[in-house]
Amino acid sequence: MSTKAEQIIEQVRAGRVWRSVFRSGTGQSTLHRALAIQQNIFLHLFATKVRKRMVRFSATWYLGTLTFGTFLILVITGILLMLYYHPSVPQAYADMKDLQFVVSSGLFLRNLHRWSAQLMVFLVFAHMFKVFYRGAYRTPREFNWVIGIVLLLITLLLSYTGYLLPWDQLAYWAITVGSNLSSAVPLVGSKIHFLLLGGNQVNANALLRFYVLHCVILPLAAILFIAIHFWRIRKDGGLYVQQSDPRAQADVESEPDAKEVQ
Ligand code: HEM
Repeated sequence: MSTKAEQIIEQVRAGRVWRSVFRSGTGQSTLHRALAIQQNIFLHLFATKVRKRMVRFSATWYLGTLTFGTFLILVITGILLMLYYHPSVPQAYADMKDLQFVVSSGLFLRNLHRWSAQLMVFLVFAHMFKVFYRGAYRTPREFNWVIGIVLLLITLLLSYTGYLLPWDQLAYWAITVGSNLSSAVPLVGSKIHFLLLGGNQVNANALLRFYVLHCVILPLAAILFIAIHFWRIRKDGGLYVQQSDPRAQADVESEPDAKEVQ
């Protein structure tokens, strides 16, 4: 017998407003659950059926998911930091000090952003090594490996461009050394250096360029490639399961209709 609360939930779910958002309904049958996933803008990236073995902790150590988690923290804390930071030479360093000493919870916000950035770099490498160790980069997942390399580069570039923004001595000289390295690229080195800094020196132009790259261009590129990365996991038949592993076979036997839905 259902309780009063359950009856109210049922009424809400049967109502017009709920059905206008969740068209498939949210019944308990397998079909309803599959439709709910297929018709939801966020969930439709995932397969409607997966093998148990694919989603066990031991398969991936959830390293990709954790990388994505740090990315979300960075987006949220980054937007909050943008409310206090001006990308101009006289203001940038003062804004950092204000965050440290004046803004309530400013130091926490800044540190959360910095620590998450370092954690993301660590996790993206760990995720890549785990994928490599399991051999999950092989056919048909080679393209997703390439997308992964693009994501690795974007992660490193995000880290690098964020470095200049505090406009302190460490940032200034680190970017001077880093951007000078780009001049060493054969033939086009000096052009890359000029393009990156908006001139030949680390000055106001460079600060503005790094700000736009860090806050707009690179995050948008990351979101685009993460979406492709997730969509490809589904199109490649879900996460990789070692066929020689007897537990993979056991999964199929315990769930006869478990198949890799495209
Ligand atoms: C922003 C960076 C990245 C994010 C957010 C991300 C996210 C994910 C997620 C959530 C998964 C599902 C499995 C899991 O949780 O581990 C996954 C799988 C995968 N990732 Fe990444 N990833 C990133 C970077 C990379 C890099 C650098 C590589 C390799 C160069 C890579 C290659 C792959 C491959 C091949 C799979 C499929 C693995 C399988 O089938 O088991 N990813 N990624």
